[in-house]
Amino acid sequence: MLSYHPYTDSNSVETSCLLDVQQLTLRYGRHIAFEDISLPIYSGQITAIVGPSGCGKSSFLSCLNRMSDLVPDCYVEGQILLGDMDILHLATDTLSLRRRVGMIFQRPNPFPLSIWENLALPLREHGITPRHQLAETIETVLRDVGLWSEVKDRLRQSALALSGGQQQRLCIARALVLQPEVLLLDEPCSALDPIASGIVEDLIVRLRPRYTQVVITHNLAQASRIADQMGMFWVQNGVGQLIEFGSTQQMFAAPTHELTAAYVSGGKG
Ligand SMILES: Nc1ncnc2c1ncn2[C@@H]1O[C@H](COP(=O)(O)OP(=O)(O)O)[C@@H](O)[C@H]1O
Ligand SMILES: [Mg+2]
Repeated sequence: MLSYHPYTDSNSVETSCLLDVQQLTLRYGRHIAFEDISLPIYSGQITAIVGPSGCGKSSFLSCLNRMSDLVPDCYVEGQILLGDMDILHLATDTLSLRRRVGMIFQRPNPFPLSIWENLALPLREHGITPRHQLAETIETVLRDVGLWSEVKDRLRQSALALSGGQQQRLCIARALVLQPEVLLLDEPCSALDPIASGIVEDLIVRLRPRYTQVVITHNLAQASRIADQMGMFWVQNGVGQLIEFGSTQQMFAAPTHELTAAYVSGGKG
């Protein structure tokens, strides 16, 4: 049974639901990865998705921009609304959806091209070609992710020569060039050393509230530092479930599900 805390904000600031997930179920062939997940993603906030490996966190995230379409034999049921866009509707244009909902993976995956090309390519793909416009946007996003001073003199060099942490910030910059509304981050820090991880974490915090972010993390201390809301996934009877959702503060201080209590206190998972 899902324990659901209605959203409460200590400052009573009005916030709205940007992504509304209703009764979402995902199967790989006959295997149900997760079922019947409903939760709101609030605008301008950071929502953490936590839970042990294999409980369906990455699969869940992949539905939010229909990357799940790319997996053979993957079936998704339910409804996800992004404003007036019905994300799972067959007629929904995935190119414009992915422009609104960008994704960052655990392993930094820059294209094997120059730093400049990594950022220019998605812009050109969406029809933005004037050089001055490319240059302006590229500088802005590199400043946004704190990379500009580190790379401004080597924009034509390979992105693969950057450190892991710099590559991850470049991947975040690449997601930002198209000015998405939502960023999906699947364990964005777990392949990085502690210093690079801290820099990326600070960046995620700085990007709030300009972007609505959904972050999968195995690091509960990180979730408690950065997330406004938290969804706790668990495998029950071989199927991923959302067992609790609510404000991070509340879920750490007074979890209502015994598995959440055990997990956040380090006793389980
Ligand atoms: N491409 C796939 N094909 C088949 N099964 C998959 C695929 N990806 C994930 N799974 C299965 O779905 C379940 C959930 O996986 P995943 O979403 O990766 O969990 P998490 O991110 O929480 O570790 C697991 O049982 C996993 O083995
Ligand atoms: Mg995963």
